[in-house]
Amino acid sequence: MKIVALNGFKDIQPGETWLWRRVEETARDVFARFAFQEIRPPVLEKTELFKRSIGEATDIVEKEMYTFADKGLTMRPEATAGLLRAVIEHNLLAARPLRRLFTIGPMFRHERPQMGRLRQFHQLDVEALGGAHPLLDAELMAMGAALLTELGLTASLEINSLGCPNCRPAYREKLLAFIAGRSGGLCADCQRRSATNPLRVLDCKNPACRAEVAAAPAILDHLCPDCAAHFAGVETGLETLGVSYQRNKFMVRGLDYYCRTTFEFLTTNLGAQAAVGAGGRYDGLIEQLGGPKDTPGIGFAMGMERLVLLLQQQEQADAEAEADLYIAALGAAAVNACLPLAQHLRERGLRVTMDYEGRALKNQMKLADRLGTAWTLIVGDDELASDNGLLRDMHSKEQRAVALNAAAIGEATGQ
Ligand code: HAM
Repeated sequence: MKIVALNGFKDIQPGETWLWRRVEETARDVFARFAFQEIRPPVLEKTELFKRSIGEATDIVEKEMYTFADKGLTMRPEATAGLLRAVIEHNLLAARPLRRLFTIGPMFRHERPQMGRLRQFHQLDVEALGGAHPLLDAELMAMGAALLTELGLTASLEINSLGCPNCRPAYREKLLAFIAGRSGGLCADCQRRSATNPLRVLDCKNPACRAEVAAAPAILDHLCPDCAAHFAGVETGLETLGVSYQRNKFMVRGLDYYCRTTFEFLTTNLGAQAAVGAGGRYDGLIEQLGGPKDTPGIGFAMGMERLVLLLQQQEQADAEAEADLYIAALGAAAVNACLPLAQHLRERGLRVTMDYEGRALKNQMKLADRLGTAWTLIVGDDELASDNGLLRDMHSKEQRAVALNAAAIGEATGQ
């Protein structure tokens, strides 16, 4: 029997890895300009960590985690919990009042796979720890927007506030009362959720549920004065920074640790998977996980698969050439002469490939075309005798003689 990859676990193939690198390199560059440092926590953590942070009554913890039940361990479904665990464990908040960190890597959720939704997926995750000011929220969203812009992508930003332990319980009661009169019209998931996590009913994708909750009370109208002032501060910050956004009073998020600001970067180009990135504030979480008291935090994560899909769709993604120069060496003597030449050109920084199988020139030219090289160097017995190879510009198809040494070829190819 042939062994194939697991459903929802995708091989990132050679033709796409360069796009992944582009996403990652752009992200590293943008994050560095906002003074974020990298941290790399492991993918396996104690199950308890995710239960305590993401929340027992969330879809992620209830049904999506890859857990080794006998060992009490879980493959991380997201990055925030493990990153905070590491920060607390290594006391990284002691030396700085504000710690800006990012991590990049695979996450695991047992969801139903579809376009843009995998079981092993990758996040670019950023967290700013120790800052409570609303301008920090605005700055983080501006950083997310800058990353999308620098990748050449467009997404809309939606924001909301989930209040705090002072105002959310009263709002929750209001919402419960509203839902109680309508539970007959809700889907089975929402009927179940309305008891454990009623806010989740607000962002159910089922059209019947959407219709039922259209007139539900909005948390933005029920914030305590501190949360309302914070939200106003975030909006002012976004305006100052020139980041366009919309309020979405029903945005709830699928993780329990959020308070106050939540936000999502959305696209209309990925079918049902509209969110390319999302995050929010989690002011109580660090303390709840055993960290220093009263340490606020905020962060977001972008889904790398979704960013890559968007780049591919926008057809900015001209296939990357696999090499700069192909050496078509014809015959054993030419191969021998070109072997060290290729090595010297690589030392100069050129990406060089050659074929040792003695294929005919026509076949070698076809191969160079397939690799997308800008140049081909043709070397046969005549060229060896004159110590001049034929350098072919693969775009203009022009050919000219070039001395068979690395300096001359490097100069001719601009390297
Ligand atoms: P999240 O909304 O669960 O938040 O995920 C963030 C992003 O990861 C999503 O917007 C999406 O782009 C991507 N994503 C999530 N699940 C999948 C999947 N199954 N397949 C492909 N992409 C996916 C969090 O994970 C929070 N930890 C974000 C955060 C950081 N909040 C504060 N700090």
